[in-house]
Amino acid sequence: MSKPKRILVTGAAGLVGAEVCARLLKAGHRVSGLVHHTRVLIANSGRGVASSTDGRAGTVRLVTGDVTVPRLGLDDDTWTDLANGLDLIVHSAAITDFGHPREVYQAINTTGTAHVLELARERSTPLVHVSTAYVCGERDGMILESQLDVGQRFGNPYEESKLAAEQLVRKAAAESLPTAVIRPSVVVGAARTGAVRDFKNLYVVLKLLSEGRIGSIPGYFDACVDLVPVDHVAALITAVADDFDRASDRTLHAVGSSVRMRHISDVLAEYPSFHVPRYIAPANFDPAMLSDLERAYWHRVMSLYESYFRRQQHFDDTVAAGFRGPKRLPSGPNHLRRIIDYAVRAGYLGAPLPGVTEALSRVNQR
Ligand SMILES: NC(=O)c1ccc[n+]([C@@H]2O[C@H](COP(=O)([O-])OP(=O)(O)OC[C@H]3O[C@@H](n4cnc5c(N)ncnc54)[C@H](OP(=O)(O)O)[C@@H]3O)[C@@H](O)[C@H]2O)c1
Repeated sequence: MSKPKRILVTGAAGLVGAEVCARLLKAGHRVSGLVHHTRVLIANSGRGVASSTDGRAGTVRLVTGDVTVPRLGLDDDTWTDLANGLDLIVHSAAITDFGHPREVYQAINTTGTAHVLELARERSTPLVHVSTAYVCGERDGMILESQLDVGQRFGNPYEESKLAAEQLVRKAAAESLPTAVIRPSVVVGAARTGAVRDFKNLYVVLKLLSEGRIGSIPGYFDACVDLVPVDHVAALITAVADDFDRASDRTLHAVGSSVRMRHISDVLAEYPSFHVPRYIAPANFDPAMLSDLERAYWHRVMSLYESYFRRQQHFDDTVAAGFRGPKRLPSGPNHLRRIIDYAVRAGYLGAPLPGVTEALSRVNQR
């Protein structure tokens, strides 16, 4: 590891932020965590991350603030203390769930980034900005780490707000602030165990599909979505924090394995009690043909994810590969099985009926 650094992590209590704090602390860095409503740090393993308000050794020093407010809503002493006492900032705070008005995403994700950049600019403190691979919007094909605004259309205001945030970071970099951008795809459970602290985004979709609350989706069998294990994202951010000079001025795709819509159906079909969605050509899909209940689920939840069932996107991760060594990730379908198995064990997805082999072995045991 490089020399220990003094690092501020924003969004420190979040799924990614808490795991990053745990790893930076373990690597010997002095870590401060900007927290907002949630002031307890829980790593992805479910274990607490040692924290304190005075920043005693071996703990993350908690600082409560709000990125939507100038100077993060901190008093002058705390702001000056932070501005003068940091070697690196990891900006992970954001609103990540879908369905809010555009202004909410702009305030937290875009203006929030502007306020964090203000802190970085005070002493030209290097910044690692956590963005999303989906700043590419609905553009299909191979997405390069170097590409940003190519006139793409966005699937939702979250993607739009994160692109605007990256543009602010690029502008600051052009004005000589040292920056690196890390773009995770869809963050899911750990590579080996499938374990995840929070069931959100993809998990909500899997729940609605597996319970049969949504039976048909407007999309294509070969559309694909990239799933990245949370431990890989946190490891990449930690590696970049450790070796910032090499990452400076670069953008890294923190991506994992591609999963096609057909894999989602195939894997759900392996669980006897799970429902399997039908895919309907988008041009033929009309929410009016759904039952009242299904239509309500469609409008309130599934429609927010609609464009991901149509996309054909692949993410080049050449720059990221230089920071994480050889890639040892399960294939998309295997990883999907792993995360579903974990969600079943944790009780988030309904317990499946035993498979035929298991049922027969039970009969044979009698
Ligand atoms: N999760 C994914 O699938 C995914 C995929 C691609 C990129 N990313 C990016 O990765 C980063 C981390 O995501 P995550 O999954 O860890 O999200 P998360 O679990 O929702 O955590 C986000 C954190 O940001 C904090 N936050 C929200 N509003 C804030 C405010 N006004 N001021 C200060 N802090 C605020 C939240 O604190 P409170 O809850 O206390 O408000 C929370 O701790 C984000 O930048 C996200 O865009 C995530």
